[in-house]
Amino acid sequence: MVMAAVALLLVMEVILIGFGGTNGLRMGYYITSCPFAESIVKNTVNKALQNDPTLAAALLRMHFHDCFIEGCDGSVLIDSTRDNTAEKDSPGNLSLRGFEVIDDAKEQLEEQCPGIVSCADVVAMAARDAIFWAGGPIYDIPTGRKDGRRSKIEDTINLPFPSFNTSQLITAFGQRGFTPTDMVALSGAHTLGVARCSFFKNRLRNQDPTLDPDFAKALSKTCGAGDNAEQPFDDTPNSFDNDYFNALSRENGVLFSDQVLYTTTATRAIVNGYAMNEARFFLDFQQAMVKMGRLDVKEGPKGEVRKNCRKTN
Ligand code: HEM
Ligand SMILES: *[C@@H]1O[C@H](CO)[C@@H](O)[C@H](O)[C@H]1NC(C)=O
Ligand SMILES: *[C@@H]1O[C@H](CO)[C@@H](O)[C@H](O)[C@H]1NC(C)=O
Repeated sequence: MVMAAVALLLVMEVILIGFGGTNGLRMGYYITSCPFAESIVKNTVNKALQNDPTLAAALLRMHFHDCFIEGCDGSVLIDSTRDNTAEKDSPGNLSLRGFEVIDDAKEQLEEQCPGIVSCADVVAMAARDAIFWAGGPIYDIPTGRKDGRRSKIEDTINLPFPSFNTSQLITAFGQRGFTPTDMVALSGAHTLGVARCSFFKNRLRNQDPTLDPDFAKALSKTCGAGDNAEQPFDDTPNSFDNDYFNALSRENGVLFSDQVLYTTTATRAIVNGYAMNEARFFLDFQQAMVKMGRLDVKEGPKGEVRKNCRKTN
């Protein structure tokens, strides 16, 4: 019964979002022009994650950063040049990794179908495949993004800060068309990966009252190894599950912006809902990801299909 309802919702989602036809994105965009595009990306991602499971988090985060800065246009992949400091080299790049996985997939795609598959789509597909590999939901995403030609360090100011409170988070995501529920679901991406001490150490100094005292000790211990020491967001940093929300309800959130989702009454019910019902989290998450993947997509002359993901053509 529940399964049938979930299946029906999925079908409705495909109809509503998938064939909605905004931004020129659609399901199976490469079906005739590059029929193996999706499987090339998936195989490349799976191979990379077998060697290093922590790359699942990196690939998911890369897609988020790509989409929130200048839209999902591959701008996050561009290397700096003598005349331009790219997004990547912002202090806010916050340890982005996994670029070699994108390069690997792109090289194979250029061999099979040169000039067809955009880097922005490779990033979007890689994030989707990484989520599934780590135990998360499987879902289709529309493709057809074009690559942008702008990547500037100053644009990274558009990312939300880990010091944001709930109303700031709701505003930052709301400006891009996300509901508070979308925002909480997307924050659930922190079920994967780690944060470095520099992003949460001020919570220790100021005795953040929303931090469980025992967990504060654990965080202090991590920070004992320096600003770059890594703290997993939850107990299972390589598994895509709802542990992150359970951690929040125990006041074991790592970033201030994680914990406030539980301490603020406006979003607490959503956190509790996801902590109790993983399927609900998965469904909301995948819908919000499809939405995120549509942010400010470049069309026509505004974009191109890069030959090399690290530089514009
Ligand atoms: C809600 C606002 C958000 C804030 C303030 C935020 C901030 C951060 C920070 C500070 C880190 C640690 C970076 C480091 O230590 O180098 C991080 C890691 C991460 N973020 Fe977020 N983030 C947010 C939302 C998101 C969203 C929407 C996604 C994806 C859909 C995401 C995916 C990730 C992942 C997967 C990691 C772990 C990366 C790794 O282990 O390599 N985050 N985030
Ligand atoms: C991120 O930026 C720092 C400088 O702030 C730079 O040293 C580092 O190489 C960048 N990381 C990536 C993956 O480009
Ligand atoms: C959130 O932060 C903003 C900016 O610092 C502040 O104006 C606002 O009062 C804060 N909201 C809450 C509920 O603490």
